[in-house]
Amino acid sequence: MKSLLESGDAEKLLAASINGELPDERGRFGPFGGRYIPETLVPAFERLEQGVRKFLHDDDFQKEFRAELHNWVGRPTALTPAPTLSARWGCDVWLKREDLAHTGAHKINNAIGQALLAKRLGAKRVIAETGAGQHGVASAAACARVGLPCTVYMGALDMQRQAPNVDRMHRLGAEVVAVESGDATLRAAIDEAMRCWVSDPDGIYYLLGSAVGPHPYPWLVRELQNVIGEEAREQMLRLAGGLPDAAFACVGGGSNAIGLFYPLLADTQTELFGVEPGGRGPGLGDNAATLATGRPGVLQGSYTMILQDDDGQVQETHSISAGLDYSGVGPEHALLQAIGRVNYIMASDEEALDALGELCEAEGILTALETAHAYAAAKKWAANNPGKRILIGNSGRGDKDMPTLIQYPVSARK
Ligand SMILES: Cc1ncc(COP(=O)(O)O)c(C=O)c1O
Repeated sequence: MKSLLESGDAEKLLAASINGELPDERGRFGPFGGRYIPETLVPAFERLEQGVRKFLHDDDFQKEFRAELHNWVGRPTALTPAPTLSARWGCDVWLKREDLAHTGAHKINNAIGQALLAKRLGAKRVIAETGAGQHGVASAAACARVGLPCTVYMGALDMQRQAPNVDRMHRLGAEVVAVESGDATLRAAIDEAMRCWVSDPDGIYYLLGSAVGPHPYPWLVRELQNVIGEEAREQMLRLAGGLPDAAFACVGGGSNAIGLFYPLLADTQTELFGVEPGGRGPGLGDNAATLATGRPGVLQGSYTMILQDDDGQVQETHSISAGLDYSGVGPEHALLQAIGRVNYIMASDEEALDALGELCEAEGILTALETAHAYAAAKKWAANNPGKRILIGNSGRGDKDMPTLIQYPVSARK
């Protein structure tokens, strides 16, 4: 992996990233990213890229996007001090509350931004994929808001794990299509959505839910999500008395993490930790810790880190949290790992469940199972770094996880 970078590249790439020069014009984050797609999809991606270049930083688009974030999503979300966790962990702990955003997770920032873009690009309908269901719910809500029909592709396994979110999507007017192929989780749902897009690339807008996939999605999603880190940075300075010594976010595809980290990249006194699902153990197939245990390769149109066997076959994954259960990761995270700016570490299913329980009991917040991984890792770090200031990206709320949580009753765990 190290051989992908020449000596001195790390500093240059970090500087380029901080200066907003990445991705480059080919959609690359250093060696990662790009666009590896079948010929049939090239016109659709080119049209999308032109649209993003034309509208994303245009004043009218930004004005409308910011107004929707404020009036409909409910931004800025709170920065909550966590006094009981702080006392227990011996650190000063602060939580960036994306669970308080409309529909209950950070996914809504991206969904409303892309739905507004779809309108501007003249799309007749929107398709989306979802893992945990949060992006599906966010897409359904955003499409209702802008008046576009929405179809959501979802792995059949995830539909079982996230039943409340399937019902929410239906109520918000979306059609949900069960994907039985492959691992019947997020990877299969993305494949199916891309296949559908080819059938009508002009009429359909594909609203991708994380900072993954071919260029321009990783860039587009980061630009729509970095409001999390912009707000958190300003709130830490104003409310917490300074920037964090360490910031933690869970990593599935990596959208909440890049949203939190990107505005903090230049603050090199802040250590950044992306937390991946260690699942039930280190064996291939038992986790979805792509950066911690994977190798570079191409997945779903992007050169990034992926979980693969010795023959290069992409591996099926396991995580207790549907939203982290993905064998790839956004290419910008692959770069941030390669240049050493972000550390990618793991928390297991069991550790996430324990952390979720502790947060409920200590602070009265039922967080998402995805997010609980970030708490588990932050707690471990706190034990070795007493007195430090910690920021945790609370990416979403846990109500959607009740069908899973009910299988682990509190009395049995005490
Ligand atoms: C609450 C929550 N956090 C995190 C994630 C992981 O996605 P990402 O890594 O793109 O933030 C999901 C995905 O569904 C989610 O629902």
